[in-house]
Amino acid sequence: MARPRITLKLATSLDGKIALANGESEWITGEAAREAGRKLRGRHDAIAVGSNTARLDNPQLTTRMAGYSDPARIVFDSGALLSPKSNLAQTANDVPVLLFCAKGAENYASEIKALGVSVLPIASGSSGLDIAQAMEILHRQNIKTLLVEGGGKLAAGFVKAGFVDDIYWFRAPVILGGDGRSGIADLSLETLIDVKPYIRQSVTEIGVDILEIYTKAPT
Ligand SMILES: NC(=O)c1ccc[n+]([C@@H]2O[C@H](COP(=O)([O-])OP(=O)(O)OC[C@H]3O[C@@H](n4cnc5c(N)ncnc54)[C@H](OP(=O)(O)O)[C@@H]3O)[C@@H](O)[C@H]2O)c1
Repeated sequence: MARPRITLKLATSLDGKIALANGESEWITGEAAREAGRKLRGRHDAIAVGSNTARLDNPQLTTRMAGYSDPARIVFDSGALLSPKSNLAQTANDVPVLLFCAKGAENYASEIKALGVSVLPIASGSSGLDIAQAMEILHRQNIKTLLVEGGGKLAAGFVKAGFVDDIYWFRAPVILGGDGRSGIADLSLETLIDVKPYIRQSVTEIGVDILEIYTKAPT
């Protein structure tokens, strides 16, 4: 199947959490790691987030750095419920925003379409939108590299699909506990035989944090 090369970026606590149970997640990692994360965005053709991240964080998903271009922003949002007041919708005419939604939901998205958001209906099932179909569409749109920025449910969807080629895992020296939101949500694995290994490429200190880079092991 033709698809972009996919990098999963996580900014977690030592125990792999991306947010508190109430969704608060800003500034888990330090400024140096956040700057490295913005540079990473600039090296990709597009960035993807799930609808919860779009709603809770109201991100811009831009690089905000001289010399780095802004990738297209992709949202997985079955109901096409992205707020017209969101930073993504409000800047869609400056940097493209593509929103994948379930078939039929596009009929209720006239406000965000008018703001320049491209609303693309695709197949969906019990585990959400069909990520493989979304990847084929992005490939046809000449998007060769995609950075998946989370949250945990979208990350799990890409892992389950077997599409995560590279991982950039920023790890901060804090512990958020078992009630925090996991960087990668449930995978419903039943045997370790199904678990595909990654190969660690490097470990780098970035300010107070650590960046681990992994690449999928050849099968
Ligand atoms: N520290 C970090 O690196 C980082 C990065 C990003 C986010 N966050 C935090 O993560 C939290 C949100 O994470 P989350 O796990 O609750 O939600 P999420 O991954 O942002 O969004 C999940 C939603 O995406 C939609 N979706 C559509 N198709 C999907 C598919 N195939 N697989 C998975 N999801 C699909 C579903 O909602 P619909 O039914 O609406 O389609 C699903 O509930 C926030 O607190 C945010 O601040 C942290």
